[in-house]
Amino acid sequence: MFVRRIAVIGTGYVGLTTGACLASLGHDVVCADVDEQKIAKLRRGEVPILEPGLAELVTEGMAAGRLKFVVGARNAIAPQGDSDDPIEVVFLCVPTPMGEGGAADLAAVEAVAHEVRDLLPRGCVVVNKSTVPVGTAARTKQLLGRRDVAVVSNPEFLREGSAVHDFLNPDRIVVGCDQQDAAERVAALYSRLGAPTLLTDAASSEMVKYAANCFLAMKLSYVNAMAELCERLGADVHEVTEGMGYDRRIGQAFLKPGPGWGGSCLPKDTHALMQISEAAGFDFALLTASLETNERQSGRMVDKVRAAVGGSLANKRIGLLGLTFKAGTDDLRDSPALTVAAALRAEGAELSAYDPGCSGEVPGMTDGITVADEVTAIAKDADAIVVLTEWPEFRALDWPALAKVAANRTVVDTRNLLDPDVLRRAGFSWVGVGCR
Ligand SMILES: NC(=O)c1ccc[n+]([C@@H]2O[C@H](COP(=O)([O-])OP(=O)(O)OC[C@H]3O[C@@H](n4cnc5c(N)ncnc54)[C@H](O)[C@@H]3O)[C@@H](O)[C@H]2O)c1
Repeated sequence: MFVRRIAVIGTGYVGLTTGACLASLGHDVVCADVDEQKIAKLRRGEVPILEPGLAELVTEGMAAGRLKFVVGARNAIAPQGDSDDPIEVVFLCVPTPMGEGGAADLAAVEAVAHEVRDLLPRGCVVVNKSTVPVGTAARTKQLLGRRDVAVVSNPEFLREGSAVHDFLNPDRIVVGCDQQDAAERVAALYSRLGAPTLLTDAASSEMVKYAANCFLAMKLSYVNAMAELCERLGADVHEVTEGMGYDRRIGQAFLKPGPGWGGSCLPKDTHALMQISEAAGFDFALLTASLETNERQSGRMVDKVRAAVGGSLANKRIGLLGLTFKAGTDDLRDSPALTVAAALRAEGAELSAYDPGCSGEVPGMTDGITVADEVTAIAKDADAIVVLTEWPEFRALDWPALAKVAANRTVVDTRNLLDPDVLRRAGFSWVGVGCR
């Protein structure tokens, strides 16, 4: 295997995982970020995000001298010392949040392109791992203004909470470039992983990421709509989705109803694809319906809680179990739990919350929610307990003990996480989604 000198720009969930994993595969990696505090922590060996296995890889990579951290993209590209060979591959792992009208905001990608264009060594390859609209590779190439530098699309499919595992065991690697040799150089970085690899053009590669994420969002909206129909007809969505999922054409994954889908990717990527479709004059009705179903779903969860506390949420004490967008992460970005919480609060509910991934209040995210560090505090005098994130440990809580401190023994389980029989034996009434 060729050892490559790699720069990773943006050291968040994707960039830090990419950097640490590429170093573990034997490459020589320097990671850069604009966030000085983040880099200072990483240099001390502290990993600022919750991701199983990541801290170990960072420690190993640093100890082996294969993983370094610097502030600013330019410092990652510039030689680190006299003995350093030039950087051969630059990964862009910067944010592409939802911008105006739902379009992906490419300001960070463009800022990095400007910052590094005159510093890139001859013949190096710039790889876009951020999720970006079709045409971004071509646009980045234009911004760089360098004929000798190829721009490659290599979308990332890792899931937060299992990022290291997913990076090292990918279902597939997608690499897109209109220059075959550059695509092959990037694909070769992953050769040890033995994953199916699709080499394609840049536009198709960029589209794969949106196509995949939006398909997952649609699948979840379909299940949430099915759950509502099951409630109306007296069917049980568990049984229905189990029966569907045995069909290998459908599969069991992404077939669980919940409070609506969210997180740092699905909402922004569905909105971006909507905007891309509109700009192309295409009415993507399926996607519009999926977004509408998702908004409806969080509203339905609020209806369930309101009904559970007697018809009005005003001054009701609601204990929330879970704030993160899914279990196993500390990421609160676009969490459906926060959407439901905001709607409960808007109707006058008093909210407290417990989440194993969130140790205290986060300004701008958990405003109006008292975040407790243990579960009894949120159950005490609660008019209802609402499960919003599927942390497995919630199943093992001491429900009889919580029943003793709650004002009203009602649980609304928006994830169908808990065992209703256990809850009922503890004296709680249990309300789920898509079932009686
Ligand atoms: N989080 C995921 O699960 C996931 C999965 C696949 C793809 N993606 C995509 O990957 C991209 C990054 O997502 P993320 O979740 O890692 O974001 P993040 O916010 O966790 O990390 C991005 C990092 O980039 C840094 N940054 C911003 N501007 C910079 C600049 N000019 N120079 C250097 N660093 C800069 C930020 O400080 C931050 O640390 C997005 O396009 C996202 O859609 C994310």
